[in-house]
Amino acid sequence: MPLTSLATYERTIYASLERIWENVLDWEHLPWLHPETFGHVRFLGTTPEGYRAETSLAGARTPEAFVIDVAIDRAARSYHSRTVAGPGNGTDVFTRLDSVGTDETRVTVDFLAPVAPDPVHASRIGTRLVAMYTRLWDQDQAMMTRRQAVVDGTLAPSGRTVVVDGAPCRFSTVCPHLGGPLDAADVDARGIVTCPWHGRRFDVRTGQQVPAPPSALTSARSARV
Ligand code: FES
Ligand SMILES: [Fe+2]
Repeated sequence: MPLTSLATYERTIYASLERIWENVLDWEHLPWLHPETFGHVRFLGTTPEGYRAETSLAGARTPEAFVIDVAIDRAARSYHSRTVAGPGNGTDVFTRLDSVGTDETRVTVDFLAPVAPDPVHASRIGTRLVAMYTRLWDQDQAMMTRRQAVVDGTLAPSGRTVVVDGAPCRFSTVCPHLGGPLDAADVDARGIVTCPWHGRRFDVRTGQQVPAPPSALTSARSARV
């Protein structure tokens, strides 16, 4: 089906291609690093070119899940993020990457839709998408900058002390997963810190990752009254 371009967004990102590919394939960060945009994420599996995941938009009055298929082509330096089920089915966000320096990449994003809305509606949607992607790329760039410092070993070590069960406990503020910042991360009364990059939880006393809590809701069909 031919697709119509709603808008094109271009900018320079101060990160290497390697960091950007890592970020594109990192489905887990969507609702954590971008809580204003994504309501949840559920990994559906890898594909030959990337992955498939179910997600939803944050703040929607009636959040509806949709499925994205992220397919990367490293040789062509481009990738598609296609919606393949749910609201927005058939849309494609096509991104091209041009390396312009060691840690500098030119990014061009095309927002493509299967039907051509009237021009006023199209331009309104396009403006909204550009604003959304400006915020997403700002947040991703900050993550990639810190991540690069972690990979290069140039991130200054830092620690934080919290009191758990009446005793002070000091822990590193570099997340053991990919180096996310734990400096201001939430620590609960049991000493469990939640990382803002992927939501993984660690016991600050042992450093061990703890499993996510089981989901709290019982389905209406199985609930007893
Ligand atoms: S960096 Fe991934 S959970 Fe902390
Ligand atoms: Fe992101």
